[in-house]
Amino acid sequence: MTVPNTIEWDDSSRCIRFIDQTKLPDHLTIVECKTVSRLVAAIQRLEIRGAPLLGVAGAFGVALAAVSCKKTNYSEFIADVRNKAKILSSIRPTAINLNWGINRVLAAMEQLNSVTASKKIAIVEAKSVAQEDIECCRSIGEFGTTLLPDKCTVLTHCNAGALACTSWGTALGVIRSAVQRGKDVKVLSCETRPLLQGARLTSWELSQDGIDVTVITDSMAAYLMRKGEIDCVIVGADRITRDSVFNKIGTYMHAVCAHHHNIPFYVAAPISTFDPDKLEGEIIIEERGREEITTCGNRTIVPDGVKVRNLAFDATPMDLISAIITEKGILKPPIDMQALFRYQTIM
Ligand code: MRU
Repeated sequence: MTVPNTIEWDDSSRCIRFIDQTKLPDHLTIVECKTVSRLVAAIQRLEIRGAPLLGVAGAFGVALAAVSCKKTNYSEFIADVRNKAKILSSIRPTAINLNWGINRVLAAMEQLNSVTASKKIAIVEAKSVAQEDIECCRSIGEFGTTLLPDKCTVLTHCNAGALACTSWGTALGVIRSAVQRGKDVKVLSCETRPLLQGARLTSWELSQDGIDVTVITDSMAAYLMRKGEIDCVIVGADRITRDSVFNKIGTYMHAVCAHHHNIPFYVAAPISTFDPDKLEGEIIIEERGREEITTCGNRTIVPDGVKVRNLAFDATPMDLISAIITEKGILKPPIDMQALFRYQTIM
């Protein structure tokens, strides 16, 4: 089956179309999203998720806010769009791409002093954000494939694939590119408690492409490393500060284990995920509701009244990272983030 792009702008009905990821792997459902409030709900519920996809969704969200705004006075119009953008940008605080995508489109709109022209440019700019995301993933894939042996087993955590982007993926983009080049790559996908992005989404999208994937529980990874069954780890990122990589909770645990077993630990992410002005301590880690932990299907698995913590992300210090694969090239330790902004290509 050909999987459609995870998100796109529908010109005829001036709305966003996206895959509802909460329905996978049972149903491939496309949602037509016509209001910003529906988009807010989709991001809160993780129908739309994954850092690069959040960037594109934020960009399309601003375009949607613009085209659906009835105000004819420019100051009132732009104030209304900014208000909606503010609501959108606050939903998921750890993934920097959401804000980045929103700000890209707002900045383009603010160059113009007319409602009609702003609406047009909002759509054009949001579409460019989506197109660039596709190109970034392809480029990350091409650079990253050079790091993989011809025959290998790769561990990944959460979903940093086509579903977390417009298509192709970052970590899974590296795997797709390697397979396309004839490498024999097997994937171990950690189920990723509590929302099971690895079990539900990574395994679904890789098996759609005929890529060899096996789901394991998160807690199996360390022992499989010890047994020599994992050649490298590749994950995505939600934000990369000067000192740390933020990604799905559990990533740090895999990095520590990989380091202990001398296994390369790679991060694949577009430059829009970098936050070079910040350090780990300045970043808010999203905490989500207790019900994600206390229930499994319709069953309660934690007694009422028992305390629960549900951190959605963790941070892995740079010294545990063997390389960061970007669309401009591969950063190796010591990671010099400024190099990204100085050179066209790095290796
Ligand atoms: O809570 P999620 O599902 O949005 O978390 C997603 C991740 O942690 C991904 O690994 C990350 O966004 C990178 S996606 C290319």
